[in-house]
Amino acid sequence: MKLSRTGIVILVAIFLSLMPFRAEAADPILVEGAMECETDLLIKELDNPVEERIGGWRYVSGEYQSIPIVVSVTSIGMTNAAAATTLGIEHFHPIAVINQGTAGGHDPSLHSFDIVLGAKTFDASAWISRAERRGADGRHIELMPTYYYDSNLKEDKAEVELTADPELLEVAVSEAGNYQAGRVIVGKISSSNIWNRQIDRIHFLHEKYGSSCEEMEAHAAAHICRVYDVPFLGIRILSNTEIHGEDFNPATGTACQQYVLTVIKSYAGRKAGKAQSDGRK
Ligand code: 5AD
Repeated sequence: MKLSRTGIVILVAIFLSLMPFRAEAADPILVEGAMECETDLLIKELDNPVEERIGGWRYVSGEYQSIPIVVSVTSIGMTNAAAATTLGIEHFHPIAVINQGTAGGHDPSLHSFDIVLGAKTFDASAWISRAERRGADGRHIELMPTYYYDSNLKEDKAEVELTADPELLEVAVSEAGNYQAGRVIVGKISSSNIWNRQIDRIHFLHEKYGSSCEEMEAHAAAHICRVYDVPFLGIRILSNTEIHGEDFNPATGTACQQYVLTVIKSYAGRKAGKAQSDGRK
């Protein structure tokens, strides 16, 4: 069959009109975890895995049920999380970043295997202490903000708490009913390079600052995502809680990854649906 010139023009126009959708579909979701027990299942679930080191950080890209994913094994701590998120964004241009894994309980109503969706994160190592003067709330110490450049507003910002992407959070909430191993709550994640076993400090962070749980990466990743204006959500499972004498259980890392996979599927489905309906407009 020989195509007329008009036929070729029409075919090229159809192909070009599909291009934005194809490009968007190819951008991955970056899923982060610090440790093996927080990333092994995600990596195992990837089709066509490709592993690489960028700087000192490990990334495994592939597809989960045809959804492009990059698993970033950040290693432990705020610096690693910030570096792995920066390199991950620069290198893979993700449509969203999920920082997930284990945490210690601050909210007394929570137990191991309960999941905290971080509507907010804060840096629980950033304090200003006052020598003589008490703050307005009568305290000698208060949290210091996180400083960042808002590339959207093109201005410098300073905020104590960073807020999760509303759409990612909404999707994660909508998947809560499918999680059987514990409760899923919307809460606040306290991040720092501290593993805190002091019970009165745990109560202080919960009561004064509303912290649901503590870990060592989420806020650092949230910080970098804010600079790059990439949608972010922290999803943390209680692997231990000092309040109830529950010790670290690595099996929680697997349960968290299983839940995160449901969130990824739901989020990607929503994005693909939106891209399709935008294409029809
Ligand atoms: N305090 C701090 N970090 C914790 N983690 C799990 N439980 C806690 C806790 N109670 C996570 C951190 C870090 C690793 C040591 O485990 O995020 O990656």
